[in-house]
Amino acid sequence: MTSGSAALALPVGDDALAARLLERLDLVEVALAGHVRSRAEFVTETASHLMEAGGKRFRPLLVLLAAELGDRAGSDEVITAACVVELTHLASLYHDDVMDEADLRRGAVAAHTRWGNHVAILTGDFLFSKSSELTAELGADAVRIQAQTFTRLVEGQILETVAPGPGEDPLAHYLEVVAGKTGSLIATSARYGARFGGATREVEDALTAYGEIVGAAFQLSDDILDIASDSVESGKVPGTDLREGVPTLPVLMARASTDPADARLHELLDGELTDDDLHAEALDLLRKHPALDEARAYVVAQANDAKQHLAVVPEGPVRAALEAFADIVATRST
Ligand code: IPE
Ligand code: IPE
Ligand code: MG
Ligand code: MG
Repeated sequence: MTSGSAALALPVGDDALAARLLERLDLVEVALAGHVRSRAEFVTETASHLMEAGGKRFRPLLVLLAAELGDRAGSDEVITAACVVELTHLASLYHDDVMDEADLRRGAVAAHTRWGNHVAILTGDFLFSKSSELTAELGADAVRIQAQTFTRLVEGQILETVAPGPGEDPLAHYLEVVAGKTGSLIATSARYGARFGGATREVEDALTAYGEIVGAAFQLSDDILDIASDSVESGKVPGTDLREGVPTLPVLMARASTDPADARLHELLDGELTDDDLHAEALDLLRKHPALDEARAYVVAQANDAKQHLAVVPEGPVRAALEAFADIVATRST
């Protein structure tokens, strides 16, 4: 890894590419600071809160990286597209922390904890509107894609709150949720990058398919981290999915086990985990459970599947970075 790429949430072996991405990411950062501004000072404060708290900027980075596959990687439209996806993501985080009752985000106190649910939800709406306004600069097709993406994201978030339908496989239901709430926006990040960077239609389609799988894998990793990591690493409260009763990949895999030694864990998972002691006991049992490694192996296999879509991309530093992007998503610890 070069010293330059250390600041990127991705190891980029090629120094020139790493430097270019960092430079472009700086432009995105400056533009984002402008986009979260409101004529009302209080709204600027609530809307800039999570942006200033940090974040990996994975989605804008993917836009910039995918743009390198075309002949207009340096265009202003690419920067705009990178801002669109991060603003959409930011909006979804404000809403997500309300629905998950999560008090910590990006290492900072969540917006709803600081200002209440109304302000948090409306700030999410404000950011989504800002994102939509910006998308209009990219043309009607981009607006349509962004709207369809947000439709899928919201459908995923809503479906997460309901149990699988009668006869529906819980794992299939969960994977549908994951594809909607996270795969959709990461697929669009890759698509926007390829499109506004001037890549061919064939590359754009391949990158979209790659982004969809990488995006789902990204969420599966997040769900593993919710169990395996502590809040110092993740900047979030561990075990939030468990407390909220959201079944995730490791939990579904642990539930599927027929080992009699898992009886206590199954009993805990079948009940409410809002009680601190029961929650801690379940988290502890899950952390030691082979399902965690089984889930990790599944995510690695997904990342490998995603990489197959890069076959149409010429070999070189950009393809290598896209491959590394898929790998890091599968093995990340933050
Ligand atoms: C968090 O996304 C929400 C998920 C879709 C898992 P990120 O892990 O990209 O969050 P930030 O942007 O780095 O805070
Ligand atoms: C986040 O899902 C998905 C969106 C924000 C659309 P999670 O609820 O699993 O993500 P974290 O763990 O809070 O970041
Ligand atoms: Mg959440
Ligand atoms: Mg959630």
